[in-house]
Amino acid sequence: MRAWTVVVAASLCVFFQAASAQPVIPAGPFHDAMRGTTPIDEEAKPPLIAPIENKDVISGRAYAQQPPTIPHKIDGYQLDKNANRCLACHARSRGAESGAVPIGVSHYLTRDNATLGSLSPRRYFCTQCHVLQADAKPLVGNTFKGAEDVRVAPGPAGPNAAGKK
Ligand code: HEC
Ligand code: HEC
Repeated sequence: MRAWTVVVAASLCVFFQAASAQPVIPAGPFHDAMRGTTPIDEEAKPPLIAPIENKDVISGRAYAQQPPTIPHKIDGYQLDKNANRCLACHARSRGAESGAVPIGVSHYLTRDNATLGSLSPRRYFCTQCHVLQADAKPLVGNTFKGAEDVRVAPGPAGPNAAGKK
């Protein structure tokens, strides 16, 4: 037998072995968090698109440095290199007129902590950090608990460190 026939025979053996291995089908009805119980070979009926939360009520924050979520619709607000509609209301100079919360002081800092006279370029695309909320039932359970308040970790650097009252 020539060497190549051995190689072909060996690879055919591997191929047929793999093909004959049956996938293990789990017992019980198929259930997927997003497809529900629709079998995999059928098309699931898509759920309605959830409405965007538009209650105009500022949402709580889960921790001190969380970018607050957007409590209003932003449909049609231009946000690209030519224009930033968000700033029409959220710029510090517009706050009194628009009633919107002015952007935080942190939005004027460069990465080297220098304060600029206008919005820092790295904060220009607001929706990179601030997101809308859908008025929808969560797809999966979640037990995350937000921080109740800002806490300073105890330790040598904390305000309660010995000798540093
Ligand atoms: C027409 C004015 C207007 C425009 C434009 C606007 N907002 Fe607002 N925004 C408000 C007002 C007013 C509030 C205060 C809560 C409310 O009334 O919805 C607010 C609240 C917010 C908050 C919550 C602030 C907090 O402290 O919790 C965020 C975040 C926000 N807007 C982001 C955006 C982003 C991002 C855009 C652009 C895509 C945008 N807004 C465009 C008026 C505006
Ligand atoms: C790189 C992430 C990032 C981007 C981009 C960004 N923000 Fe923020 N924003 C934050 C974080 C984090 C906070 C909360 C801490 C703080 O105030 O700095 C915040 C806070 C805010 C607040 C609440 C301020 C307050 O005093 O309660 C408003 C309003 C806001 N941002 C609007 C905007 C708008 C409008 C833009 C676009 C021009 C924008 N942000 C871009 C991260 C971002």
